[in-house]
Order: sequence, then C-alpha cells, then structure tokens
Amino acid sequence: MKNGLEDVIAAETRLSDVDGEAGRLIIRGISLDHLVETATYEDAAALLLDGFFEQPVAAGELGARLGRARTEVFAHVRTADEALGKMPPVDAVRALVARLPDGEDFDTALRLAAAPAVFLPALLRLGKGETPVAPNPSLPQSADILAMLTAALPSREQVAALDAYLVTICDHGLNASTFASRVIASTKAGLTSSVLAAISALKGPLHGGAPGPVLDMLDTIGTKDNARPWLAEALDRGERLMGFGHRIYRVRDPRADALKQALEPLVGTGQVDLDRIRLSEAVEEAALVILKERKPGRPLDVNVEFYTALLLDALKFPREAFTGVFAIGRTIGWIAHAREQALEGRLIRPRSVYVGPLPRAA
Ligand code: ACO
Repeated sequence: MKNGLEDVIAAETRLSDVDGEAGRLIIRGISLDHLVETATYEDAAALLLDGFFEQPVAAGELGARLGRARTEVFAHVRTADEALGKMPPVDAVRALVARLPDGEDFDTALRLAAAPAVFLPALLRLGKGETPVAPNPSLPQSADILAMLTAALPSREQVAALDAYLVTICDHGLNASTFASRVIASTKAGLTSSVLAAISALKGPLHGGAPGPVLDMLDTIGTKDNARPWLAEALDRGERLMGFGHRIYRVRDPRADALKQALEPLVGTGQVDLDRIRLSEAVEEAALVILKERKPGRPLDVNVEFYTALLLDALKFPREAFTGVFAIGRTIGWIAHAREQALEGRLIRPRSVYVGPLPRAA
C-alpha cells in the first residue's frame, strides 16, 4: 500500500506529462513555456479536446461555439439566489454547475468549459449586490471573463495575463482533481458529474485552495524584514508555507516561472501593486532558504500557487475567488481526461487493506 498513491501509475494519458526531477511540463507534445508564448485559451482548449469527440475541433470554431455556450449558461445565473452569493465562490460555482445536464457529447463539454467562466464573475457581482454582466460571445473567453467581472473592457495586458494563466494551468498530469474526474468518468456517469467531483477535490488547501492563503501570508508578513522571522515562527508551529512544495516537483514548478513572466507586462505598465511584488520576492527568497535549512532531506521550491496569488490579485479578483478562477482554467483539462478515461479506460476500482478488528466468535 502506498499512502497517497505516491508514485503509483493509475492511468495512461496522451494529455500531459509532469517531469518532477527536470521541472518540465508537456501538454500534448508541447512544452509549457512554448505553449504559453504561442497559444490562447481557445488554442489550448482545442489542443486538449482534439480527438476526444466525433467532430474535429478547430480553435477558431471553438472560440465562437464557446462564446455561444457562455450565453447559454448565463441563463442559469437567474436561478442564483442570495444564499449562493454568500457562499464561498467556488462552492457557489459548483452548485450552479450541478444544474447543468449531464452527458458525454461536445455540447455538454462546451457548456462545462463556459460555465465557471460565466458563473464566477456573476456570483462575485451578486455577492456585492451588483447586477451580473451578460457575456459577450464575440470576445475571447479571457477578455469576456474580465468584462463580466468589472463591467468594463479590460486592458490588452490584463487579457494577455489572464490568458497566460488559463493556458498555464489547463492541465497537469494526474493531480487530485483530475484523478477525481477520471474516477467518475470511469463509471460512465457523465462529464458534468466528473467536473463536479473535480471542483470538489480542487477546493482543498493542499490543492487549488492555496493561493488565497498565500496572499493572507504576504499581508501578515507585511514587510521584507519580517519575512524570515514570520516564516520561522510558522514552521516552528508546524505549519506549511502556502505556495511551496509539491508532490511531484523536486525543483521549481515551471508554471511558477510562466506566471511570473505573465505578470511582467502588468508590472511594466503600473497595473499592479509594486510593493506587494517586491514583498513577495523577499518572502520567496527567505522561504527557499529556510525550507532548505529546516527540511534538508526534502527539496521544497515555489509552486504554481505562489504566483497565481500575485497574478489574480493584480487582475482584481478577490482572494476568496482564486480557487474558482483555477477551476475556470482547469475545467478543460478535466473534460479531456474524463473523455480519455471514458473512451479508453476501465472502471477504476482499487482495493484497500483491512486493518480493523476481525469478527468475534459468538
Ligand atoms: N511548507 C513546509 N513544509 C512542507 C511543505 C510546505 N509548504 N510542503 C511539504 N513540507 C514538508 C512536510 O512537512 C514534510 O516534512 P516531514 O517529512 O519533516 O514531516 C515533507 O515536506 C514532505 O511532505 P509531504 O506531506 O509528504 O509532501 P506531499 O507531497 O504530500 O505534499 C503538498 C505536497 C500538499 C503540495 C505540500 O507541499 C503542501 O502542503 N504545500 C503547501 C500547500 C500548497 O502550496 N498547495 C498547492 C500545491 S500546487 C497545486 O496543487 C495546484
């Protein structure tokens, strides 16, 4: 038995490969650094879905159909009541996704890829007592998300930064939420069920729930000089430093660098809080030193969530919504994995070792 299934191979996939020793991520034959430089969200989505549905999926056509799917799912926003607006955003998104019909076809996939992108901005506005903004199907998904969030057209740099984020996190091997998606798909329950399971796995603080706490940590540290003493005390209390460490990576998470680079145009045009960026650099530096001292046997480096926090904060998403934005980007990967599993895999049904008491003789 391997606790946490560490190193257990549980699926064969053509979708993505994480090389934890080399710090390399390949998505359908393209290395992440190249993909982020050259692909839009729609390109990455077309790449991931290619071959998993009857009809071929071209990026141009996918963009138009995704736009129409955003308009279609927006109708569900009317069913959101005040209680949903008060829930943690990722839970409220999940509740609305649960209202979508289940199925295995391309239209179901498109609705699911559009749903968190529409529901999250709408729910955030409802939570503030504002009217949700209807999607504009002619915009690319990243631009439309920001327009639905702020009721204004975003800058070119903001759209590019969100697009880079969505591409960076679109797929990542057999992580916990993707595995959850594949387990559900293996029972042939349908894509909506797979995505619901995946969102539920994503929201935990050890997976996609970390970036909000990263920002909390930066706020609590407050000044560069306080970085080392605060981090030392947190480790003394037995806490984990959010945004550091990974099950697979033994070196720096390549997604962290992709996101750091995506932040640069925003930094260059003054669209970020520069003090926070400088503080984060000091915290990262201090954390790497102290983690090396405290955990010499375990290489711990920065992970995707550290820069996710900075990027999404710069794009004016509230921190409680960061996990929901992660879901917007990762849904396409969950769908592709679910289709791959449903088409090519078997029912996932591992075994457990019973360590409880044996029945007593009467
Ligand atoms: N801070 C301090 N110590 C850490 C951290 C951390 N962030 N991560 C791991 N460690 C330590 C553990 O305490 C443990 O030390 P020990 O052997 O002395 O007890 C050792 O490193 C190994 O830890 P494991 O729990 O076995 O590592 P695992 O592979 O299960 O954990 C995880 C990976 C959950 C990501 C972990 O590094 C963590 O909790 N990080 C903080 C949360 C975070 O940033 N999550 C986002 C991950 S990225 C993503 O999912 C999108």
